[in-house]
Amino acid sequence: MRNEYAIAHLSDIHVGESGFKEGKVLECIGEVNNLSADLIVVTGDLTWGGLPEEFKAAKELVQRLEPEPLVIMGNHDARNVGYTTFEKYFGERMVSYEDDKVFLIGVDSTSPDVDEGHIGRVFLKNIHESIVAAPEDKVKIFTLHHHLVPIPNAGRERNILIDAGDTLKMLIENGVELVLSGHRHVSWTWEIENTAIVHAGTVGSPRIRGMASQNYSIIRITDESISVSLKLIGEPERKARRIKRLNLD
Ligand SMILES: [Fe+2]
Ligand SMILES: [Fe+2]
Repeated sequence: MRNEYAIAHLSDIHVGESGFKEGKVLECIGEVNNLSADLIVVTGDLTWGGLPEEFKAAKELVQRLEPEPLVIMGNHDARNVGYTTFEKYFGERMVSYEDDKVFLIGVDSTSPDVDEGHIGRVFLKNIHESIVAAPEDKVKIFTLHHHLVPIPNAGRERNILIDAGDTLKMLIENGVELVLSGHRHVSWTWEIENTAIVHAGTVGSPRIRGMASQNYSIIRITDESISVSLKLIGEPERKARRIKRLNLD
């Protein structure tokens, strides 16, 4: 295995929102491309209203990232029946990915025209089966747009995944090491048992909810640990926080 594996975790670009910060997004793209990350994940809300012109503009931005990112849907992308347009520009709404270091499943946790997240019992069973079948020597990663656990400093709690408890239980019981989410525009990390839950802030929305600026996360995985650092766009990377010891077979 390689020494250090870097993931750039971006979220909530929000093309089309009033006050959209295109300059921040472009700066972020430059920074991420300089990082030479092994993997880039974009955890949803690429658009404001799920409109075709927004998806087209979001695609033009996202396709500048290297390597090509894994992209999942957010609740804003599901507005105005954005599903088919999302698929036109970003492909499948369910992502599975594997390399020599990680095994990742990304899901669409949205429902049409509502902001709440939902996985559903049948889909959760399918995800469970995929995770159980994952190679034991890989870091298991699950990504979704909605948050599984409330986040501090994010204002009134709302739109959490309605079956968050069942989902969280399944992920923890099956040894998923890392969960990547977005949605609340606030960067925060929880550790529950052996699962680290990393929430990225927003790259392009003006609604930064008390954070210093638009931002993203950089996650580094070694054979021994996972660490996460906050990257405010245009500023030096914050000191990494070691969040988890790994004990891969
Ligand atoms: Fe958002
Ligand atoms: Fe959202």
